[in-house]
This record gives sequence, structure tokens and C-alpha cells, in this order.
Amino acid sequence: MRIGVLTSGGDCPGLNAVIRSVVHRAVVDHGDDVIGFHDGWRGLLEADYRKLDLDAVAGVLATGGTILGSSRVRPEQLRDGVERARENVAALGLDAVIPIGGEGTLKAARLLSDAGLPVVGVPKTIDNDIASTDVTFGFDTAVGVATDALDRLKTTAESHQRVLIVEVMGRHTGWIALQSGMAAGAHAIVVPERPFSIDELTEVVGRRFAAGKRFAIVVVAEGAKPRPGSMDFETGGTDVYGHERFAGVARQLAVELERRLGKEARPVILGHVQRGGTPTAYDRVLATRFGWHAVEAAHLGAFGMMTALRGTDITLVPLAEAVEQLKTVPAERYAELDCVL
Ligand code: F6P
Repeated sequence: MRIGVLTSGGDCPGLNAVIRSVVHRAVVDHGDDVIGFHDGWRGLLEADYRKLDLDAVAGVLATGGTILGSSRVRPEQLRDGVERARENVAALGLDAVIPIGGEGTLKAARLLSDAGLPVVGVPKTIDNDIASTDVTFGFDTAVGVATDALDRLKTTAESHQRVLIVEVMGRHTGWIALQSGMAAGAHAIVVPERPFSIDELTEVVGRRFAAGKRFAIVVVAEGAKPRPGSMDFETGGTDVYGHERFAGVARQLAVELERRLGKEARPVILGHVQRGGTPTAYDRVLATRFGWHAVEAAHLGAFGMMTALRGTDITLVPLAEAVEQLKTVPAERYAELDCVL
């Protein structure tokens, strides 16, 4: 069998572990050939690739980023590129294509699969918002980085009697905010799933100072928004890939909380540090298992499917199901905390 693999969309710790696992399972156990496309879908559309053998993936298990490079592609570029992709898959003699990516990548994978291409998807995103899989690799690493940052920020916040508003990633969902905030004992957690009330947030933080505490840590997911009409709020429009640009919720909350409470408030934006660097052991293992099962799916002819974690098992789910809806944080999870607004 000849397999093409690519990584697309925002990078994520564990991508290299998947690539390595695909190569190991395919080359060592099945005697397959594997090629890796450069920079995501662009590599497939332009037939820009290199051969991946065992040497090519030596030493990458613990590394961050992606050895193949990644890119974002505009939805219309891919729609227009279906024929080109089909031609290149045929010309390169590929029996399977394994795209590793998030929501956008899996939608594109579905498009190609619907057009008859032999695709097996592997989900990734630090945001952990892909339905049909309990967890995506990268999430555990991001939560660890955010938790470490929150632990560190607590000491400086206390020294200066400040409110620190820490913005973590999470466009549509608050998984990173919830988990890191819970792990670090944040005093308020603000998530995109629930538009927040600035009055309520002011009250929660104000109550803490009134009780004699000298600092407060608020964790906010980048995609969080106030209840309509409850505060002036700047939004940032849309980028060329159709993604919402954020105008900085932590910055805006810091200004508002400082004004309302008379306490110094500072925004801290963790940004891409959450996505960089070495994956945790959990993420390496999940990524490795996904890679192994993606190769097995290709050998079984289970195309149009995606690997998924259900409980402790890896299963295959239809790509169609995977991209239907996002996995948001369920209300029961908020109920376990008294600090989620
Ligand atoms: O989807 C993963 C993610 O890390 C989001 O949390 C974040 O909003 C986005 O990617 C950032 O994308 P970019 O690297 O293109 O700025």
C-alpha cells in the first residue's frame, strides 16, 4: 500500500507522534510506502512531498510542531482543488491519504472523501472541541502549560495585590479554561459557551477582596463574550479563512474590572505558548494510538472515517459525524465549580 500523510490547520503537540506512528506501523508491520505532504493541503494540491521512512521520523516522538509543516487553506481553495487532489492521488499511486487536523481539516477531509478519495482522518486540536472523540491529543499539553502559568501568576498577583485576567485558547469552547482553571484553583472562569455578565464577574472578584484576600485570578477563554448589551465590547471581524479575529477579551476585562473595583488589573495572554513544545506523555500515547489505528483503517478500506477515543478504546467514526457539531463543555461540568460564570 502507498499512504500519503499531511498535517493541516493550527499545529498541536503530538502531530509528530502521529506521523511517526503511521510510518512505523505502515513501513515496519505492513511493508507499505509512506510519503508526507508539505504544509498541509497545499502539499497535496501541488504534489509537494517527501518520502517518509524510519530515518525520517527518528527522534520526533517528543518534539512539538510538525516535521511536515502546516498551513490553513481557504474553504473555496479546497472546493476548487478536489479535482487536482484526485489527479495527484492517482498520479502518486496513493491507496490512502491520512490528513491530521482540526475542524477545518476534517471538513476538507470529508469533502475529498465524498468525492471518492480514500481518506482516513485523524483529529487534533488543543481546544478539544471535536465531537465524536472524548479527547484530542494536544489538549493535555495545553492544559498543563496553562496550569503551570496560572500557578506562577498567582504568586506575582499576590505580591502586587492585583487581579490577573489570564486569556487561554478556546475559540468556541472553554475546555482549556475550565480544566486549567480547575487545576490551578482560579477564582473565576469565563467560557465561550456562556456569555458572561460583567456585573456578576465584578461581584465575584469584589467579594474576594471584601473577604480580605489580596489578589484574584480570572481565567478567560479567548472566544468568551459578554451578554449582549451588558458592556461595550470590541470584536475583531473575520480573517481570510473565515475565522473570527479576537480583539482581546482579557484586555477589555482588565480595563473594566480595574475601573469598577479600583484594584489594579492586568491582562496576560498565553497565546501560542500553549501549542508549542514537547507533548505530555498522555498526548504522545494518544497520538501514537491514533496513527496506528489510522493505518489499520486504511488496510481495512475503512475510508471516510476518523479515529476517535471512546473511553479507553480507539474506534472509527464517520467523518460526516465528526464535523457535524462542536463538543462544548456540558453544563454538568460547570455545576462542579462555583467559579464558572
Ligand atoms: O484551533 C486551535 C487554535 O489554537 C485556537 O485555539 C486558536 O484560536 C487558533 O488555533 C489560533 O490560530 P492561529 O495560529 O492561526 O492564530
